[in-house]
Amino acid sequence: MEASASVDEYEHPVEDVMYITNNIPGPGIDVADFEAEYTVGCSCMTECRNCSCTRGSANYSNARIISEKLIGPIFECHARCGCGPNCGNRLVQNGPLNCLAVKKVADKGLGLFTNKLIKKGQFICEYAGEVIGLLEARCRVEANKERSLMNYVLVVSEHTGEHIIVTCIDPKYFGNIGRYANHSCDPNSILVPIRIEGIVPRLCLFASRDIENGEEVTFDYAGGAMANSVHYLSDTPCLCGSNNCYRYLPHNKI
Ligand SMILES: C[S@@+](CC[C@H](N)C(=O)[O-])C[C@H]1O[C@@H](n2cnc3c(N)ncnc32)[C@H](O)[C@@H]1O
Ligand SMILES: [Zn+2]
Ligand SMILES: [Zn+2]
Ligand SMILES: [Zn+2]
Repeated sequence: MEASASVDEYEHPVEDVMYITNNIPGPGIDVADFEAEYTVGCSCMTECRNCSCTRGSANYSNARIISEKLIGPIFECHARCGCGPNCGNRLVQNGPLNCLAVKKVADKGLGLFTNKLIKKGQFICEYAGEVIGLLEARCRVEANKERSLMNYVLVVSEHTGEHIIVTCIDPKYFGNIGRYANHSCDPNSILVPIRIEGIVPRLCLFASRDIENGEEVTFDYAGGAMANSVHYLSDTPCLCGSNNCYRYLPHNKI
């Protein structure tokens, strides 16, 4: 059976991590910016395919992301849009898939798995956590490195004309089920920045190919929408086992 969306009722299998279903503001973030909501939405009464939210062409078809939109950014309809809850431009806001499980993986700690087939293009879950400033992200990454701890900080850069928008998320202390997704140099999912109610993007995992029942869900820590041709490599050896392995865990510019 194919996986479907659900209300997020997951829990952490480890202690000392607080489950949050959505990002929260952390150090180095202006809370007013974080909480500011878009004041206008589209005025569609029925389908949103070609409106101000989709910016010309549909983002999703049959609840799957359109391949060309994997480069993001994507804007979903929100509370101030004229359309209703069944609008096809509302996907991520309906919650993660209901078939995810966290299991031990040899030498990598825990990992994220699926108990059902996930079809190419389906939304899996968000990588939610504390949204932190870049300086705070650098400090946390450095501290993890010095203490040989796992690093959960993800830094994503979006290039929009002359601007570069950098988003740093750390689900180490506050996070959702996405925090267990390991890196692979030959991944089966991709991270896409999606905005719903405001300017801070949600970092969303979509299947980049069909993912079989029982398979581990992985993404490229330096890949996806905002991929840069330059890969920065950490000191942590990559154990993904793929033929094209970078040998060390990659990350975006921090
Ligand atoms: C976002 S966490 C992923 C979940 C983590 N494995 C856990 O047990 O909670 C990232 C950390 O997982 C480990 N990890 C993820 N992908 C890996 C890989 N391909 N090879 C080795 N370690 C990996 C590294 O320690 C990395 O700092
Ligand atoms: Zn809509
Ligand atoms: Zn619309
Ligand atoms: Zn690898």
